[in-house]
Amino acid sequence: MHESVEAWTNRHTMLAVAHMMIVAKSFGVDSCPMEGFASDRVKEAFNIPEEVDVCCLLALGFATEPYKQYGGRFDIDRVCYSESFGEPFVL
Ligand SMILES: Cc1cc2nc3c(=O)[nH]c(=O)nc-3n(C[C@H](O)[C@H](O)[C@H](O)COP(=O)(O)O)c2cc1C
Repeated sequence: MHESVEAWTNRHTMLAVAHMMIVAKSFGVDSCPMEGFASDRVKEAFNIPEEVDVCCLLALGFATEPYKQYGGRFDIDRVCYSESFGEPFVL
C-alpha cells in the first residue's frame, strides 16, 4: 500500500524526469532538477491551477561553464547490492 497519493505520483514523475534528463543529454542539452522552490510562486508564474501539485522543476539548457568542480559519484559497491543489503553485486 502506498503511504500517500502524493508520494506515489512523485516517484512516477521523477522516473519521467530522469528519462527526460538522459534524453536531453543525448541531444547535448544539459539539465538540472530542482525541488527547492516556492510552489505558490511557480504556479503564479506559469498559470498553474491551485489544485495541481508541482513536485519538481527541470531546467534545460546549455551550461556555459562548470558550476563547480565535479564531485564524483560513490563507487558502485556502495550504492548497488545483490540479493541482500551489503551483499556485493557482481555482474
Ligand atoms: C531531485 C533533486 C532535486 C534537486 N533540487 C535542487 C534545488 O532545488 N536546488 C539546487 O540548487 N539544486 C538541486 N538539486 C541539485 C542539482 O540538480 C544538481 O544535481 C547539483 O547541482 C549537482 O550536480 P551533479 O548532480 O551534476 O553533480 C537537486 C537534485 C536532485 C537530484
